[in-house]
Amino acid sequence: MNAFDVDAIRARFPALAADAAGIEPLVLDGPGGTQVPRQVPEAISAYLLGSNANLGGQYTASRDTGAIVDAARHAGADFYGARPGEIIFGPNATTLLFNLSRAVAREWKPGDEIIVTALDHWANVSPWRLAAQDAGVTVHEVRIDERDCSLDLDHLASLLNERTRLVAFTAASNTTGTRVDIPAVTRLVREHSEALTCVDAVHHAPHARIDVKAFDCDFLVSSAYKYFGPHLGMLFGRAEVLAALTPYKVAPAKDIDPNRWETGTQSFEALSGFVAAVNYLASLAGDMEGRQDGGDRSAALDRAFEFIGQHEDAIGRRFLERARSLPGMRIAGINDPDRALERTATFGFQLDGVAPGDLAEWLGQRHARVGQGNFYARGLYRQLGLTETDGVVRAGFMHYNRLEDVDRFFGILAGHPALEG
Ligand SMILES: Cc1ncc(COP(=O)(O)O)c(C=O)c1O
Repeated sequence: MNAFDVDAIRARFPALAADAAGIEPLVLDGPGGTQVPRQVPEAISAYLLGSNANLGGQYTASRDTGAIVDAARHAGADFYGARPGEIIFGPNATTLLFNLSRAVAREWKPGDEIIVTALDHWANVSPWRLAAQDAGVTVHEVRIDERDCSLDLDHLASLLNERTRLVAFTAASNTTGTRVDIPAVTRLVREHSEALTCVDAVHHAPHARIDVKAFDCDFLVSSAYKYFGPHLGMLFGRAEVLAALTPYKVAPAKDIDPNRWETGTQSFEALSGFVAAVNYLASLAGDMEGRQDGGDRSAALDRAFEFIGQHEDAIGRRFLERARSLPGMRIAGINDPDRALERTATFGFQLDGVAPGDLAEWLGQRHARVGQGNFYARGLYRQLGLTETDGVVRAGFMHYNRLEDVDRFFGILAGHPALEG
């Protein structure tokens, strides 16, 4: 087996290349949106130039478009470990969750309860809170353990009861990188209630394998622009659960699952790019094993995510080790290098005495692209007593980052006037 060849991977991403002056950008804003391998825009362009049509026409381009939708559902099924009929596409995760919440809430009655969490991006909170408000349903929020920003599962257990209709939670925090033990949460929910579960896997998706059967969740959402694809949201709904619900739809539109959950005309070009992104991820396994992977895409994705995980865990550990020796750097969440596996390599932090916005700008001037702000993690900020307006600086690493990118980042940071002493 080959070593994880980051240079070969980076060569597939034009946006990671050096600029005209020979300077390579230090791209650490992946949690806000990843870069794409060349085959993604190529697929988008090929669709728009060669097959651009709507569905249902008696001509080749329209039939090609139908085939692309079908291919995207199969790619989505492989990516989630689901069946093609359980894959619903939409513009982004937020819109899909708003649509889903309207349909799910039709079944709620006053006196029912739902649970959201303080670790979540508000895309998996507001839709549920607003639907609960309309239906007269009580909302509980699971706390985080403030010491390490993990989800407090004892608190969750104490909130569950026979009135709980839904539990919405994240697979991993986009701000602290905290991973959640998803099967442990769904087991707990099923032990104490008959509630549906909705997992936000938007931050998790580029870092670790998704398997909705092993997760045993009812719904799961992700966004392809966070995992090397175009702007496109994808929702999994367990077939039996989808069948038992009634989405809001335009009357003449198809009344079968999953189509009845998709409002309006889909972005067929984004679906083309999405298939290319999933194939790119699957191809990593073939590259590592020194062969072209024409076989089982699902199995290739299993292996690809093992390689991605190993590489990113090494990056995460190195980052936490370097951070230890940097006075004034306060990382939100797990900061012990020995616990690097419990988080993604996404680091929200503050530097004593420096406003996050100023630091992000200073880093940007030195070719280090980071995120900065509150990342809609409102519950986290409230509980940690941080101000939402200031937020944190976020350095997020992907599999296309080098281990040495950590050293380059800390090298740049060491030159900041607040640290030069
Ligand atoms: C964890 C998480 N959930 C949800 C979202 C919202 O996703 P979208 O932009 O696809 O609506 C984001 C976006 O940053 C996110 O990071």
